[in-house]
Amino acid sequence: MSGRRLAGRAMVLLTLDDITAHRAMEVALHRSEEQRRQAAHDFNNLLTVVVGYCSLLSHTLVDDHEACEQVAHIEQAAGRAAALTEQLLAFSRRKILQPKVFALNPLLVEFDRMLRRLLDERIRIRLDCDFEVGAVRADPAEIGRVVMNLALNARDAMPGGGTITLATAPIVMDDEQAASRDLRPGAYAQLSVADDGIGMDAEARSHLFEPFFTTKDVSRGAGLGLATVLGIVQQSGGAIACESTPGRGTRFDVWLPVASEPSDGGANGAGATRDPAWHASGTILVVEDEESVLRLTRALLESRGYSVIEAPSGQQALDIIASPVAIALLLTDVVLPDIGGRDLWLRAAATRPALKALFMSGHTEDVLLREGIEQGAPFLQKPFTPDELWRKVREVVATSA
Ligand SMILES: Nc1ncnc2c1ncn2[C@@H]1O[C@H](COP(=O)(O)OP(=O)(O)OP(=O)(O)O)[C@@H](O)[C@H]1O
Ligand SMILES: [Mg+2]
Repeated sequence: MSGRRLAGRAMVLLTLDDITAHRAMEVALHRSEEQRRQAAHDFNNLLTVVVGYCSLLSHTLVDDHEACEQVAHIEQAAGRAAALTEQLLAFSRRKILQPKVFALNPLLVEFDRMLRRLLDERIRIRLDCDFEVGAVRADPAEIGRVVMNLALNARDAMPGGGTITLATAPIVMDDEQAASRDLRPGAYAQLSVADDGIGMDAEARSHLFEPFFTTKDVSRGAGLGLATVLGIVQQSGGAIACESTPGRGTRFDVWLPVASEPSDGGANGAGATRDPAWHASGTILVVEDEESVLRLTRALLESRGYSVIEAPSGQQALDIIASPVAIALLLTDVVLPDIGGRDLWLRAAATRPALKALFMSGHTEDVLLREGIEQGAPFLQKPFTPDELWRKVREVVATSA
C-alpha cells in the first residue's frame, strides 16, 4: 500500500500480488530437500550394515585368503560410497564438528605416510613441519579431509609427477593481516599444501571454491573438493587462501586459530583403541529402530565383550531403564518413531541421573539441532566403521559421570 497524489488528489495505491505459484515452488523445493536428506540417511544406514558385516566376516574368514581379499574390496567400495555421500551432503550443510585440541604436525606425519601409499611414485611428498606451531582446536577428522582434498588436487595438477609440500608454521596476525582474511588478530597455525603442477589462471582462481566448479572431466571431479574444504575451514574459525601461477604451481594456505587450552593428547585420538586384544565389559542399551543396524551394532559390541540390551523404540528403552538392570551406557539413535533420542535421555535422567549417553545418527546437522543435540555432545555419525563405534563407546563409558 502506498500513498500517491494523482491529478492533485490524494490517493491510496493498493497492489495485490498472487504468490500462489511462488509458494508452491518453495514448498516443492523444501520437500525435495527433505527427501534428499531422508534418502541420504537411509543410505548411510545401509552402508553401516555393509561395512560392519564385512568387518565381522573378515574375522570369521581369517584362513581363506581369497575370500578375505574379496571382503576387503567390498569394504573399500562401501567406504568410498560413504565418503561420496558425505561429500555430496557436506558442502550444502553444516556438519556437527567434533572439535578437540590437537597438534597439527603428527596429523601431517600420518598423512605423509598415507599419501605415499596412495599416490604413485612419480609424486614426491616433502614434509616441512615447524615444531613451534601451536595446537589447534578443530575436528581432526575434518582437518584430515582438508589435507586430503588439497593433496588430491595437487596430484591431479601434476600428471607428469612432481612434488607436494606439506608444511606447518606458526603465524601471528596483526590487525591488518587478520582483517584482510576476515579473521581476528592473534596466533594461528598455518597449514600449507603446495605443488609444482600446472597452476591456474585468474579465471579459475576466481571460481575455485564454488561448488561444482571443476576443470576435470565428469568421471574425475565433482567440483566439491574445495567447496568442502572452505566449509570446514570457516566452521573451524579459520581461513584459506590460494596463490597460483600458470605453469609454476599452486599453494594453499590454511590458517587455524591456535588453542589456548592444553592438548587432549594423541594426534587424533586413534591408536590406543586399535589394540586388537582390547576387551571390554558392561551393559549397553542400544536404541535403534532400523533392525539391521540394531543387529549389527549388537554383534559388534558383543564381539568386544559388552553385553547388549536391544530396544527398537524409545518407549521400550524407557521400560528397560525403569527396571533395575545395570546399564553402563545408553547408545541411542537421535530420530526414533516415538520418543527422540535426546528426550529419551532426559526422561531417563528421572530414574538414572548419572546415565551416560552416546547419540548416533545418519541425519544432517539441521535435523540434529532441531532434535536438541548440541555441538560437543557425544555423537557417532552413521555410517560408522566398527573401529569408530568401539572407540566412541569406550571413550564415553570411560568419562566420569
Ligand atoms: N592444486 C591445484 N592446481 C591446479 N588447479 C587446481 C588445484 N586445486 C584445484 N584446482 C582447480 O580447481 C578446481 C576445483 O577443485 P575442487 O577440488 O573443488 O574440485 P575437483 O578436484 O575438480 O573435483 P572433486 O574435488 O570434487 O573431486 C579443479 O577442477 C581445478 O581446476
Ligand atoms: Mg578436488
